[in-house]
Amino acid sequence: MNPIKRARASAPGKVILFGEHFVVYGKPAILASIDKRVYVDAVARNDDKVAIKSNMGFKGTFNKHDLESVKEKKFRSLVQPVLAAANDAMQEFDASTGLDLSIRAEFPHAVGLGSSAAISIATIAAVSSLFGKLSRQKICDMSLDAEKIVHNNPSGADSAICTYGGLMLFDKRRGARPMNSKTDMHLIVVDSGVKRITGKLVSSVKKLREGNAELFDGLASMSNNITSQALEAIKSRDYAELGSLMTLNHSLLRRLGVSRNVLDKLVDIALRNGAFGAKMTGAGGGGCIIALVNESSKRKVLREMKNYNAFVSRVEHKGVIVEN
Ligand code: PMV
Repeated sequence: MNPIKRARASAPGKVILFGEHFVVYGKPAILASIDKRVYVDAVARNDDKVAIKSNMGFKGTFNKHDLESVKEKKFRSLVQPVLAAANDAMQEFDASTGLDLSIRAEFPHAVGLGSSAAISIATIAAVSSLFGKLSRQKICDMSLDAEKIVHNNPSGADSAICTYGGLMLFDKRRGARPMNSKTDMHLIVVDSGVKRITGKLVSSVKKLREGNAELFDGLASMSNNITSQALEAIKSRDYAELGSLMTLNHSLLRRLGVSRNVLDKLVDIALRNGAFGAKMTGAGGGGCIIALVNESSKRKVLREMKNYNAFVSRVEHKGVIVEN
């Protein structure tokens, strides 16, 4: 009898410090991975089903090659990329078993913290390690293919940061460039509790760009400048400067129409309680804000955010890992 094949892999969540949305149109973004992860356990089974359970409210058994077997509408955007990622990983090794996948995320889904990228990356890493080994770049490329099933024209930034971890400059042409700066940045992540769909927000920005190219180009060029200045501020660890650039970036995203009242309110609370700066992070429309804080403002901001799911994160340096 064959021994049971099982594997576990994990990938970190992420925040976008600068440049979301404009990164879709070729501008640079700065991203950091956070110290909360997604874990995927994969076990091979002797049929062609993929049974998924998760701590994120979805579970089910699906036909391996049939993405349409995911009937429940509200889970489609979560489950279809997982199925596609698992299939692709097996195809790389001409493997054709069924799978039991168990997914555990340490952070919420659909709030801009990169859960979908982290899930597909950890799935590809876990499933492929049942049969062989894939390079990190291959895992990253495959997760982007899986993301394309549900997201509208993803830039690839989420896949890159959740694969490699750390602090990174990303643009579509040059891809991911790790920033070696040792950083002692303290970020507070606050979840507004409002779920949103990245693809919808990316589409709304596309519409704005088509309707008012001049406005969009102006904002994109400002985002570019802010990101360049932020790179310098990170290098010199000038957190006061970095914080004000974050707040400026938030105003830009407001003008782009992707913030909403609750996010503006949370940014405001963070600033009033001494944060160096704060902004929404990710696609917007809900989801999270991040605040850059020092020791004393950290306590104050956390206290004021007690009605929300708020946590402190440092920049996590571990990307995707296959665990023993
Ligand atoms: O899925 P989110 O909320 O992390 O947003 C992704 C970032 C965008 O720039 C809005 C889209 C992209 O593909 O880069």
